[in-house]
Amino acid sequence: MVKVLQKDKCKFLLLCIIVSIYGCKQEVEKIEDQMKIETSGYYTEPYRPQFHFSPQEKWMNDPNGLVYNNGNYHLFYQYYPDSTVWGPMHWGHAVSKDLIKWEHKPIALFPDKHGYIFSGSAVMDTANTSGFGTEDNPALVAIFTYHDREGEKAGRKDFQTQGIAYSLDDGNSWTKYEGNPVIGNDGVKDFRDPKVFWNEKEQKWTMLLVAGDHLQIWNSNNLKEWKKVSEFGKDKGAHGGVWECPDLFPLKIEGSNEEKWVLLISINPGAPNGGSGTQYFIGDFDGTTFTTEQTKNKWIDLGRDNYAGVTYNNTPNNERIFIGWMSNWDYARDTPTKKWRSAMTVPRKLTIRKVDDALTLCNYPIKSLNEYVTMAMPEAEMEIHNELKKIIPLKYSNQSKIEFTLNDPNVQMYFSNEAGDTLAIDINGKKKIVELNRGKSGLIDFSDKFTSGTQQMPIPNLPETPVEVLMLLDHSSIELFLNKGQYVMTNQIFPNDYYTALTIVNNTGEVLVIKDFKEHKVARIWD
Ligand code: FRU
Repeated sequence: MVKVLQKDKCKFLLLCIIVSIYGCKQEVEKIEDQMKIETSGYYTEPYRPQFHFSPQEKWMNDPNGLVYNNGNYHLFYQYYPDSTVWGPMHWGHAVSKDLIKWEHKPIALFPDKHGYIFSGSAVMDTANTSGFGTEDNPALVAIFTYHDREGEKAGRKDFQTQGIAYSLDDGNSWTKYEGNPVIGNDGVKDFRDPKVFWNEKEQKWTMLLVAGDHLQIWNSNNLKEWKKVSEFGKDKGAHGGVWECPDLFPLKIEGSNEEKWVLLISINPGAPNGGSGTQYFIGDFDGTTFTTEQTKNKWIDLGRDNYAGVTYNNTPNNERIFIGWMSNWDYARDTPTKKWRSAMTVPRKLTIRKVDDALTLCNYPIKSLNEYVTMAMPEAEMEIHNELKKIIPLKYSNQSKIEFTLNDPNVQMYFSNEAGDTLAIDINGKKKIVELNRGKSGLIDFSDKFTSGTQQMPIPNLPETPVEVLMLLDHSSIELFLNKGQYVMTNQIFPNDYYTALTIVNNTGEVLVIKDFKEHKVARIWD
């Protein structure tokens, strides 16, 4: 009798296994099918990002003119429509309702007799200070740098000046101001990237401009006539390269009402891991002058591919939303994509956090990304004993959001695939450093500057308590966020095949606990 029962139990178990394998297989087939549907047609070239912005074709660099108006987030960008390498710059244009799904618009600004259209910003001139619009139909005004290539070739120093253009139909068509340039050049070689914002305190427009090794602050009543009011930075911050793409804005310290001002300055070269990078200063702005007591150089992102990032003007609820160009001038022209070149980072919300008395600028994906996150594959809590490893099969890589919590911020992990590629990330809370090595992550030999050793990110104030890890993978990029954006690394990768496993190695001497591991699929935004 007992034997018969056991036999039945065995049969039942076998049946369960068959059913669950079949179920699993069906589930996998379903997912594979969905992947297939989503990889046919438009925006499906190898390495094409599926939930990050990239141009339909040709060359793109910096984000420009980030401004919100009437339910639309505008994204203008440095664009060269005739080639996949940098050339005469235009402003490309796209709009979005939620900053994730983008609609392409016609090119906004073309080069003219004053030169190429370099980076800059855009404002809504709601009070019609410029007179370009009316109070009922105020102008969207773009402020940019003119780069006179001929002047540069002729060896002159005054080849960069500032110009403006306006649109009365929410960015669809543009008119250049006939009085351009609005700021001339008296011999400063790198004089560019105007960021304009409404200065509440002075009740004026304020423009930030970089001039080689420092920042200049200018004010205006009408966006046409400008006066320089202060300078900052000749003796502050990193100076391994030219200062570019400034931004300045107030932010509250998380959990308090105290407000500080944040200054972003991109520099190229001179970033800690080589090439281009974006430093930040936290300080005060009295309406005219920026000051800081910060003595250490600080960086918004210690990966190699987050450059020229700036924030949105005019957002609802005054949220500070940042977008960076996901590349590096060290190899931007050489990356192995054919139809287009480069993408933007995922839009990130900026906050200031006080940790052990240090103020840190945190950046973390905006909430609306969650609307595109589907089909979580949760795993139960995992315990990994010392000197052991856990191989987690990946289902949606390389189009996924992977998140988990670590009881101890000491862990080595690597992504791998059947082509033998590996992407290694070592979080070492004891030595207070994260190391990322993409030297075997896939295609690397298109430029000797692409890998150049292990990238290092100091994590001096990472708490020893559980740490949240979030990674976004999108075909040719990985964005790593530790502790809700306290420490961030953004990198391009060009794997030979999809990563199919994430291996987690425990060398802590203790049991490593991984909680709430979830691999989500992120939906594709292009249709
Ligand atoms: C930054 C930058 C800017 C310039 C633009 C030219 O990447 O060098 O300083 O305006 O790119 O495309």
